Amino acid sequence: MINDKRRQLIDNIRIAIANKKTEHDILQTAAQLIDGFSEHYNWTGFYMLRGDYLEVGPFVGPDTPHKQIELNKGICGAAVSQGKTIIVNDVNSDPRYLSCSISTKSEIVIPLIDNGKCLGEIDIDSNEPSYFTSKDKEMLEKIADVIVKRLKQIM
Ligand code: SME
Repeated sequence: MINDKRRQLIDNIRIAIANKKTEHDILQTAAQLIDGFSEHYNWTGFYMLRGDYLEVGPFVGPDTPHKQIELNKGICGAAVSQGKTIIVNDVNSDPRYLSCSISTKSEIVIPLIDNGKCLGEIDIDSNEPSYFTSKDKEMLEKIADVIVKRLKQIM
């Protein structure tokens, strides 16, 4: 079940991006609102699919050395390749993991899917181990749908 606070975030994002007219503005607005949901969302941003690699988009958090990620690299590449949300409870024990900050302990990556086609993904890191739950997954997948619908309108 989605509680009121989570439902509110989904609605707020839908409203806030409705008048944004570029991919950058839509994603930046969404990244800021998602990041504000939890003090334990410590890097919140987007990677967008550009041909055969992912390119970092708007984000809130420390700078990342991973500006471009190949599809066979990282948790980010795995989520796009599988077309499914991935939750990693302990990033340091996952051999796929590409580190952005030494403080990061857990991560969730949610693909942005349009009719089976992946456009990119939402990536969130937490400094808390095992921070992300099925409730985060459920909420963020709904947010991904809201973002995809808006992106399609401006494509
Ligand atoms: N951790 C990601 C790389 C992106 S940074 O965390 C921002 C990965 O393993 O793909």
